[in-house]
Amino acid sequence: MSSRPFIVAIDGPAGAGKSTVSKLLARRLGFALVDTGAIYRCVALMAQREGIAFDDDAQLEALLGRIHIHFQVVGEENHVLLDGQDVSSEIRAPEVSMNASQVSSRPVVRTGLLALQRRLALEAEKGAILEGRDIGTVVFPDADAKFFLEASSEIRARRRYEELFQKGVERSLEDVLADQVQRDRDDSTRAVAPLKAAEDAVRLDSSVLPLSEVVHQLEHEIQQRLAQR
Ligand code: DC
Repeated sequence: MSSRPFIVAIDGPAGAGKSTVSKLLARRLGFALVDTGAIYRCVALMAQREGIAFDDDAQLEALLGRIHIHFQVVGEENHVLLDGQDVSSEIRAPEVSMNASQVSSRPVVRTGLLALQRRLALEAEKGAILEGRDIGTVVFPDADAKFFLEASSEIRARRRYEELFQKGVERSLEDVLADQVQRDRDDSTRAVAPLKAAEDAVRLDSSVLPLSEVVHQLEHEIQQRLAQR
């Protein structure tokens, strides 16, 4: 019996359904949820507010020394607090998405955020679900279960468009798709920890499976591995 919480890595590109699936799974399993994209978004938002250039490594490193990020479950939502302020909506703005992709390409930022991501997961009681791009490859290469979620570009862009629309952000589907293509390219080609599936990750394509079925398959796999511990 391991004393460490059970660690689940869910990686994949934007719009593949990671957030929805992770949230549902965390609730069903009673696991903590660590949205690592939200952490990169908080760094981008803080840099934006302080007028720090996204390639100024010295200033970014100093910023990481003062940043305080917490997650708090309120009702059914996982809220993100930056220095005590709830920034859950603000960090989803299209501008912050593009800036988060930029700051996340800086090795100084990726290294600086490793300890925080690991601590948030390891302080969970029973288990933690981490969603991101490099969880199974870099943050927890020894995760107890690893998944890589994919979906076609069109389906991912439509999901993002609908999500923004529901939040009152008006953007055309073409603009959302163009941003996504650029972000995918940046995330997959950056030198450090690019988006890629871990060799031992279970891959699922949510263009051909409803998200409820994805959740079902992941939960089944996790329950099996939990039973073997
Ligand atoms: O998942 P998201 O869209 O909220 O992520 C925002 C940005 O953060 C995304 O462009 C890539 C980056 N990111 C990353 O590089 N590594 C992670 N583990 C999570 C997110």
